[in-house]
Amino acid sequence: MEGATQAPIIEGLMNNKTDLLHSTSTDQLKTLEIHKALQTTFVARTIYLFSTLESTNKTALKMAGRSPSEGVLEGTLVLAEAQTQGHGRMGRHWISPPGVNIYASIILRPTISVLDAPVVTCLAATAVVQAIRTRTQLEAVIKWPNDVIIHEKKVAGILTELGVVQNQVDHLVIGIGINVNLDPEMLPHEIRLTATSLKAEMRESVNRNKFIADLCNNLEERYVRLLNKGTAPILKEFRSLTATLGKIVKVLTPGGTLEGRAEDVDPHGALILCTGQATHEVIHSGDVIHLRNSK
Ligand code: BTN
Repeated sequence: MEGATQAPIIEGLMNNKTDLLHSTSTDQLKTLEIHKALQTTFVARTIYLFSTLESTNKTALKMAGRSPSEGVLEGTLVLAEAQTQGHGRMGRHWISPPGVNIYASIILRPTISVLDAPVVTCLAATAVVQAIRTRTQLEAVIKWPNDVIIHEKKVAGILTELGVVQNQVDHLVIGIGINVNLDPEMLPHEIRLTATSLKAEMRESVNRNKFIADLCNNLEERYVRLLNKGTAPILKEFRSLTATLGKIVKVLTPGGTLEGRAEDVDPHGALILCTGQATHEVIHSGDVIHLRNSK
């Protein structure tokens, strides 16, 4: 791992749980609590829980790059109570204060082409939305491609990072950041306008251990569906949970800004934007701003 502060405080395996951190906090992350509510066969059966990491994705990518015989199994979950260099898409900083949120990275080894990898982000977004809806009854929706929003404010983000060998995915890490019990007052003013947390929306704290278990249950179910049935069922659910489709949107892409009606997602999860009467753009990466509903 990455030095003294990165030694796992708890390494939880199904048959061998070692809780090295004792605290009076009731909302501390605990592998035992997560495992109690887990219904998976491989996702989160091994959990590495750290007090502080630079980034759970960075650590998970390092672990995943080693051979499975060294012990890093598919489904391994890396958690941290805080991150010092949490990052999102386009290298943006992900604010990661201790003890209130979820910073999670899950290692998977799907046999899919690099082209289909964005569908895994879609899959993770639907798993997050369903966990929020089940546990909080809040109307969470997806803003293409990877934001989970409530009342147009961001509550969660997903960053999928890949290890690629000859155009095939060798391993991938799904990084999920969720503002759970964060007080938005703790955020810088400009971010407070566009970000929220589950607690801020519900006016009630959420049990992070149970939430993580729900999320992993949802994720494994959808991942197995992807492997058995391909991308179509995942994208069907994604379409039903995204607020982007049907809206007039502005999209900030690496190549410039586009405006139009968000029509659909293509079979690889790319956004199909109608920019004129018969003009369509296929957008693989960008930031979407929802402007208004289209008539
Ligand atoms: C985004 O909205 O751009 C994605 C944000 C992803 C943040 C999570 S927090 C856990 C994992 N570790 C990271 O460094 N990033 C992801």
